[in-house]
Order: sequence, then C-alpha cells, then structure tokens
Amino acid sequence: MSRSVLLRTERLTREFGSLVAVDRVDVEVREGELRSIIGPNGAGKTTFFRLISGEMKPTAGRIWFRDREITGLPQHAVARLGIAKSYQITNIFPHLSVLENVRVAVQGHARAYDFWSRADGLDEARARALGILETVGLGAKAADLAAHLSHGEKRHLELAIALATDPVLLLLDEPTAGMSPEETDETIVLIRGLAAGRTVVVVEHKMKVVMRISDRITVLHQGQVLAEGTPEEIRANERVQKTYLGAGR
Ligand SMILES: Nc1ncnc2c1ncn2[C@@H]1O[C@H](COP(=O)(O)OP(=O)(O)OP(=O)(O)O)[C@@H](O)[C@H]1O
Ligand SMILES: [Mg+2]
Repeated sequence: MSRSVLLRTERLTREFGSLVAVDRVDVEVREGELRSIIGPNGAGKTTFFRLISGEMKPTAGRIWFRDREITGLPQHAVARLGIAKSYQITNIFPHLSVLENVRVAVQGHARAYDFWSRADGLDEARARALGILETVGLGAKAADLAAHLSHGEKRHLELAIALATDPVLLLLDEPTAGMSPEETDETIVLIRGLAAGRTVVVVEHKMKVVMRISDRITVLHQGQVLAEGTPEEIRANERVQKTYLGAGR
C-alpha cells in the first residue's frame, strides 16, 4: 500500500543575488511520513522550509500540497491549509504563562474559522491548550511563566504552539538545537509521538536523532539534493559519507 503524496516540490529554486540557496529541488513527502532533511551549514535547509511555509517566495519552481499548487501563496494562506512551522527563532511570549501561550495560539487559529465565538470558547480553548501541553510533557508547568522554562522546555512549548493549529504537515527546524543529551532523548520520543498522527519534516544536525526518527532522509548539499533514501541507505551512501557524514558527525 503506497500512501498518497502530501507535499511535492518541482525544481524548487531560491536565489539570493548570485547565490543559489535552493537549487532545482524535487522532493515528494508522503502522507504519514517522517522525513528528515540533513546537510552541512548553508546547504539551504532553512530556506527550503521558508519556501514551503510561504515565508519567502521561490525564484523558480513549484510547490504542491495535496492536489493544490501553493507556490507563492502568502504565509497565512499556507498555514490555513494545514502547514505549520516551528521556528528556530522563538515564538514565545515570555510574560504569559505556558498555558496562555498555547491558548492564544489555539484561539488565533480558530478565529479564522469563527469557531470559538460561543461564550464557552475560552474554556474550550484552555482545555485544548492543556491537552496539547500534556502531549509535549509540559502539563505540570501550565501555570508557570514561559520565561521561567528551561531551554529544552521552551523548545517543547514552541512545538505545542505549532500543534495548536492541528497541522496536517509539521515543519521542525532543528528541534533539538541547544539541548542536553537527556532533553534530546525526550524530544526524540516526543517527535515520534507527534508523527504518529501526521506528516512531519524535520531539519536536524544530530545524526543520532536523524537515524532514530526518520522514515526517509533527504540530503541537501549546496542547495541541491545529493541523496534520498531510508536511514540505512543514507548511512551506506558513499557520496553522502564523503561530503557530509565523513566530517565526523
Ligand atoms: N535572506 C537571505 N539573504 C541572503 N542570503 C541568504 C538568506 N537566507 C539564507 N541565505 C544564504 O543561503 C544559503 C542557505 O542558507 P540556509 O539558512 O537555508 O542554510 P541551512 O542549510 O539552513 O544552514 P544551517 O545548517 O546553518 O542552518 C546560505 O549561504 C545563506 O547564507
Ligand atoms: Mg538552517
């Protein structure tokens, strides 16, 4: 049984002056898949995410989500179709509680559908936010100020904010960056749990994480797809070893 293609790019390209940051990238991600994108610094991973999320427009190429072409759509329109991105740059309101941060995200999303306009909307939004916090392991910290969370907990709160929109496709840019080994292990478990009900694309540098969570891996190098395959295939790929894995990662 082969699942349908959820996200597809065709010769996706982004130039910055003479630099081609993303260079004719063809990628197909299937429904329910956990895909990792790896590659050295400057390979074009974050730019690729920005093109998908509508944060930045491609200079050439096309993007499809389900059967719909989304090339050039503004970010809010892409988000409404069910694509959420968890940012490297923090998205958190430090002076709100952990719960309020997620509640605001739940309601901000719901307003687009005029879904919470009933009087009990606030309670429902709170209940949903609490459920999401439990999913990411922050249930016990709901009443704390976001500013008081540890770095790893803040990253989990960002995940909770991304989940508030109940996305079909979740894009995570370096979800374990700056985490201790223990926090990294927790995050691996968390991402696997999230991936059970949706499609996830992760940019990640830590090979241990990549090899443990991915169904398939795409390797970018100088904006181009160098290789794609299962973790075993990527580990055994000579070109990948030479240009990336060989660097002692
Ligand atoms: N807004 C921009 N203006 C000009 N150049 C940019 C811009 N954004 C990215 N670049 C350049 O495009 C290339 C790809 O950058 P990108 O951030 O996508 O790489 P990356 O693979 O995410 O790297 P890292 O692993 O360090 O996060 C780099 O050479 C970067 O300097
Ligand atoms: Mg990046």
